[in-house]
Amino acid sequence: MATSITSILVGLLYAIGTTALENGVGKLPALGFNTWNMYQCDYTADILLEQAKAMVDHGLVKAGYNTFMLDDCYSLKERDAKGRIVEDPKKFPKGMKHFTKSLSRLGLRAGIYSDAGYRTCGGFPGSYGHEAQDLETFADWGFSYLKYDNCYIPFDNVTQENVYGRYARMADAIAARAKKTKSQPFQLALCEWGWQQPWIWGGRLGQSWRIGGDIRPWWSALSSIINQASFIASETRFYARNDLDILEVGNTNQGTPPGNLTYDQAKSHFTAWALLKSPLLISSDMKTASKETLEILENHDILKINQDPNVGEAIAPFRWGLNPDYTWDPDHPAEYWTGNSSYGVVFMVLNTQDTPRQMSFNLTESWAIRAGRLYEVYDLWSHTNNGTAYRNISLTLPPHGVAALLLNDAGPEPEGLEPYCAGYWQCSFPNGTYYSN
Ligand code: GLA
Repeated sequence: MATSITSILVGLLYAIGTTALENGVGKLPALGFNTWNMYQCDYTADILLEQAKAMVDHGLVKAGYNTFMLDDCYSLKERDAKGRIVEDPKKFPKGMKHFTKSLSRLGLRAGIYSDAGYRTCGGFPGSYGHEAQDLETFADWGFSYLKYDNCYIPFDNVTQENVYGRYARMADAIAARAKKTKSQPFQLALCEWGWQQPWIWGGRLGQSWRIGGDIRPWWSALSSIINQASFIASETRFYARNDLDILEVGNTNQGTPPGNLTYDQAKSHFTAWALLKSPLLISSDMKTASKETLEILENHDILKINQDPNVGEAIAPFRWGLNPDYTWDPDHPAEYWTGNSSYGVVFMVLNTQDTPRQMSFNLTESWAIRAGRLYEVYDLWSHTNNGTAYRNISLTLPPHGVAALLLNDAGPEPEGLEPYCAGYWQCSFPNGTYYSN
């Protein structure tokens, strides 16, 4: 009897929990800084606060990058006698509270990192079996956002859970704490590397989920993530985001490991991440950031779409381009993408080849475009109006380059254009004669 009631309750939970949490936290993709790609374990509070300060000085915090994520390696290797995680006094000589207060003074909310297993990936204490206690420590330190990783998993006979269950333990602790303290729940970023289709269930437990393994600062890694994202682009919405991983913009000839992205590759990287509505976490040196890096990260036209308060969904591919549609190809992912936004119909065209290329599309290939209309074309990179278009747009793109366009209706297209239908298959005269016949 008890078992059947339990299974009904569990069944109900699963049935109810199909949508996003919508607990008031994390409606839009997180914008900010994450320590991992740039520093891995090699940092101190002072070094990080210099980055935070540089973000303020460059206007990045004002542009919306308001979260500072402290990733792995901030603690001692062992817990204290009471089981608490202890900050590393060498890295945080003035204590963790001092660190988060300093961030807060700079206009940044603080995020921290832990793990759903015994240890973090860097070998520091993980939160399995300590979920509520660690959450209390993080809250006490001044954090309100948690990235939750997937290393050092206890044996099956210990957890008697799958990935979902291990992450639900922390999600439950977050909900319980919010209820008890009548405070805002922690924002939770799941990081189980796309192991078990988190895009299906991640929104029940947190606000974002990593869709794959760790990013690397070279093009093949980026195109592989774009390929993965192309198949699940429609799984992102308010409060629930595909996380394409920390940005590598700015890590050319620097970072850990040092990267080799060209300017065009970095632009394509940022455009795809932003328009796919991924969290955008910077992880390169903001103190020495080049003009180009800042121009990319501060592209207000692109950021505005990433942070659209009315349209939660992302762009999705309408044509793969080089490959037949829905082909899995980490080197040559989908090239033609579209979606809606509060500011117009969005197009992203990506040249996945390493030679310059002319690329074109029919406007009505986008579901968001009206047939028979003229459209004003705004370029989200040059920030200019490029006149009007009807039927087709043709572009020349550099190797691994991108075009990002915003189209707005400008009235009916000129009379008498042939063909009468842009997509003529099944178009007919009123008497039932097919136009294409
Ligand atoms: C994993 C995660 C990374 C980073 C490291 C820290 O590899 O996927 O994003 O957090 O752990 O050790």
